[in-house]
Amino acid sequence: MADTSLTGRVAIVTGAARGIGLAAIRRLCADGVRVLAFDRPDADFSDAKAAGEVTPFAGDVIHAADWQRAIDVALTLGPGIDILFNNAGISGAIANVIDYPEDEFDRIMAINVKGVYLGIKLVGAHMKGRGRGVIVNTSSVSGFGGGGNIFGYTASKFAVNGMTKSAAVALAPHGVRVLAVCPSPTATEMMFQLERRLSPDNPEAVRPQLSQGTPMGRYGTPEEVADVLAFLVSDAASFMTGALVPVDGGSLAK
Ligand SMILES: NC(=O)c1ccc[n+]([C@@H]2O[C@H](COP(=O)([O-])OP(=O)(O)OC[C@H]3O[C@@H](n4cnc5c(N)ncnc54)[C@H](O)[C@@H]3O)[C@@H](O)[C@H]2O)c1
Repeated sequence: MADTSLTGRVAIVTGAARGIGLAAIRRLCADGVRVLAFDRPDADFSDAKAAGEVTPFAGDVIHAADWQRAIDVALTLGPGIDILFNNAGISGAIANVIDYPEDEFDRIMAINVKGVYLGIKLVGAHMKGRGRGVIVNTSSVSGFGGGGNIFGYTASKFAVNGMTKSAAVALAPHGVRVLAVCPSPTATEMMFQLERRLSPDNPEAVRPQLSQGTPMGRYGTPEEVADVLAFLVSDAASFMTGALVPVDGGSLAK
């Protein structure tokens, strides 16, 4: 049986100040991981700091220089970086391709695609040099189909899926695993903002409609995503790479 302990490992988690990233750092800290919590300079890091052995890091995933600084700080936490949870993302405009604003397309591709690419490239290079490491990208059920009237988000998550597979193949011979978690609607500020945009007067009224694509009939919780992450980054998943793992209450089974 594999040793599933994560004690003493070092992780970088992006989008760590709230939502799925915050649940991830809470879970990783509980498992004995030392975490660099990477989020935007305007983010409120108070919950992240309270999660355990956490080093807050203010930066933007779209800038390679910020990634390099994050790597340098993470390397003060231990001998190497074992885990990257490449999770920061935005939802962008609610619009189809014809109506999708060009500047919004550039913004979502910068954060959701270029940001993920830089993480894989720069942290992946470090892991390749060490001959070990695990990268988990946050994709979405929107990386599998065109529903939802969220053209830019869908495009970005298809790209995350492609980057995950391509990087998994390239890095497998070097001891580095690359995977993705693919949540369906999850109870975080991202979904609550979407509810407010769709129904400003009564945001919760649209929740049943937004949940109906999920056979389990509800939003996931960020903790349910974090639990799958903890498995994927452990040695219990040592023969898994390149997989796009749904955490979706059955959405992709339909
Ligand atoms: N909530 C959902 O329903 C859902 C479903 C599927 C996938 N996802 C994905 O999960 C990931 C996390 O989403 P969430 O629901 O926790 O959202 P959230 O909006 O609650 O949190 C996202 C975090 O990312 C940070 N962030 C945004 N842009 C950044 C940047 N340029 N640099 C650094 N940090 C940045 C934000 O400050 C925020 O703290 C995203 O990739 C999202 O696409 C979410």
